[in-house]
Amino acid sequence: MISEKITSQQAIDLENKYGAHNYHPLPVVLTKGEGVYVWDVEGKRYYDFLSAYSAVNQGHCHPKIVAALTAQAQNLTLTSRAFYNDVLGAYEKYVTSYFGFDKVLPMNSGAEAVETAIKLCRKYAYEQKGIKENEAQIIVCKNNFHGRTTTIISFSNDEDARKNFGPYTDGFIKIEYDNLAALEAALASSDSIAGFLVEPIQGEAGVYVPTEGYLSKAKALCEKYGVLFIADEVQTGIARTGKLLAVDHENVKPDILILGKALSGGAYPVSAVLANDAIMEVIKPGQHGSTFGGNPLACAVAIAALDVIKEENLAENADRLGNLFRSEIQKLVDVNDLVNQVRGKGLLNAILINDAEDSTTAWDICLKLRDNGLLAKPTHGNIIRFAPPLVMTEAQLLDCVSIITKTITEFTS
Ligand SMILES: Cc1ncc(COP(=O)(O)O)c(C=O)c1O
Repeated sequence: MISEKITSQQAIDLENKYGAHNYHPLPVVLTKGEGVYVWDVEGKRYYDFLSAYSAVNQGHCHPKIVAALTAQAQNLTLTSRAFYNDVLGAYEKYVTSYFGFDKVLPMNSGAEAVETAIKLCRKYAYEQKGIKENEAQIIVCKNNFHGRTTTIISFSNDEDARKNFGPYTDGFIKIEYDNLAALEAALASSDSIAGFLVEPIQGEAGVYVPTEGYLSKAKALCEKYGVLFIADEVQTGIARTGKLLAVDHENVKPDILILGKALSGGAYPVSAVLANDAIMEVIKPGQHGSTFGGNPLACAVAIAALDVIKEENLAENADRLGNLFRSEIQKLVDVNDLVNQVRGKGLLNAILINDAEDSTTAWDICLKLRDNGLLAKPTHGNIIRFAPPLVMTEAQLLDCVSIITKTITEFTS
């Protein structure tokens, strides 16, 4: 049984002793969330400026999502796909028309959806494009982050993610991100290129926004060479960057779209791969699946979560507040040597701390931000990602800007 009252230190000690040490959390123990706020076990309130890596776009414990979750949980939670259920079809119709694709393949985590997209791309290449069996290549980008499975880490260049997890999966060509010449050279290098897998903004790498026009030109190149354009919008999707999808900034329609995280508003693991019939129909019964993928609870939650995005105009809010955030933080960058840059799109932003990549300065700043009531986390050394829930108001955002400005202005290591 979980004890009624636990201190922060006790909770941290339990995780340290009984949990695998595969994360390095900021020392704060959360017990409650509502909207843009979370509370620790001692009752202190914080602004959540990470949103569970952009999963909680709709805000913590959104009442509509929680209501859908609890109502469905009392009725039917899991049938497996051995049988039909009465929510999956309705969800499939809803999500495909929402994003404008013929079909969806439902999964659970983001990494599973990426794996699904890779399998789909390869199968399509062999069965529809005539690429020789086992020779399909997928182009990926340097500094990508697509998840943690063995295949996905095979094409990562993050040593922590990769080292001693080999042997690795073949079939990937790594090119520089935001480099169209490199993409064209790779596309032209072989007749066995099946797809180009890309994050429209590299989130985990440190919120790298590509040059304007990169995505639309990359899509055009993929079309020229008959290669599938696969957008991993697990982190950038679902209103985070100020449009429903980050590819919408350049009016790009991916051949395969990968979603996760905010597809459930953080209430439940829900991911999805969307594509049109010509691609999706290469998958036949028995060739791919998941016990939990497409379960009625996930489907009910996802419908509610996507409803909230539209009903509350969260893309528009992210766009407006994102512009405000960057212009306000730019004022700090202009006068403070500790911060080199603010960058991002919508409410997916980062600041670059002026110190060595392996310094602890960004981490130390995050500790001070925590003390001042705002939770954020460094990504890749000296970069701090700022990604609050999209339900934030302008007044709350300005309050956060003043916490960040004050913390960095007063910071001494
Ligand atoms: C772009 C991208 N793809 C895939 C993933 C993996 O998602 P998950 O952690 O749900 O497996 C992430 C997670 O951060 C991500 O940012």
